[in-house]
Amino acid sequence: MQSSVQLTASGKLKHFLTVSGLSKELLTEILDTADSLIEVGERNIKKVPLLRGKTVVNLFFEASTRTRSTFELAAKRLSADVLNININTSATSKGESLSDMLKNLEAMASDMFVVRHAQSGASHFIAESVTPGVAIVNAGDGWHAHPTQAMLDMLTIRQNKGQFEGLKVAIIGDILHSRVARSQIRALNTLGVNEVRVIAPNTLLPKHVESLGVSVFNDINAGLGDIDVIIMLRLQRERMQGALLPSEGEYYQLFGLTRERLKLAKPDAIVMHPGPINRGVEIESEVADGDQSVILDQVTNGIAVRMAVMSMAMSGQTEEQNILNEKRANESECIS
Ligand code: CP
Repeated sequence: MQSSVQLTASGKLKHFLTVSGLSKELLTEILDTADSLIEVGERNIKKVPLLRGKTVVNLFFEASTRTRSTFELAAKRLSADVLNININTSATSKGESLSDMLKNLEAMASDMFVVRHAQSGASHFIAESVTPGVAIVNAGDGWHAHPTQAMLDMLTIRQNKGQFEGLKVAIIGDILHSRVARSQIRALNTLGVNEVRVIAPNTLLPKHVESLGVSVFNDINAGLGDIDVIIMLRLQRERMQGALLPSEGEYYQLFGLTRERLKLAKPDAIVMHPGPINRGVEIESEVADGDQSVILDQVTNGIAVRMAVMSMAMSGQTEEQNILNEKRANESECIS
């Protein structure tokens, strides 16, 4: 259902809400477009006119450093006008509803909303109710999805490994609360990796996690064997209800990625983390900053991936509006 909301009749992206239901070809098109936009960030004047004259509104109802900043930079590099709404000082603090806030921002001729929200499905709800022609990009909704994070991770993997076929990928840590892991698992399986492993205590795994197309390990030492890509996750304390863990110290003893444990994976394995990192909780500092770490490359790739997604969604919206206008013109010709 979500894929039909985010695609035009001809199968182009018009919103980007989730990687679920998107084809391998479309995910590859996002990666190829992002690849072609990387060089913009290496120019003296870091701008292309793909969104010139368009207005992008960043609406972050949850905290963010990487996602919010890279969306803003991406929009500016595409030559859009960018509005960053500070939720804490906005009229939501006076009780204005989300839909009233959006109606008012739409009245300012906004073309795109980039939305992070604690509620799963928030971006999908907005995409279904927004004025036609306005694109919605999901910057993370509850536990559900963080599709641009998954795609910047896929770009980083492809840059380092060349292809997805044959790869074994381990995602380690708080899978239960992770919208990043859910999006990564779908993208990795769609793009054709050999195996996705999740490594975590049972208390940090969703029920029936195997149905997502992963193999499950409760022992990190066993799970790291023969792995090409290691993705560490943050413990999301803010989303935990009840005692899911004995202590952070014990968690690090059992599931932390240390220099010793890293040797259990393939010698050329890469280490990834979406951030923010809890050093000494899920990862040893020397590993996070070490030769095999590509964590800061992930951040850099976030700009190109977000440029790709924003320009593709805007182009899909324009195509759909043109078709609609043509249809209306034909109908009024028939009437007259
Ligand atoms: N990876 C990620 O979503 O980081 P931020 O919360 O800083 O945006």
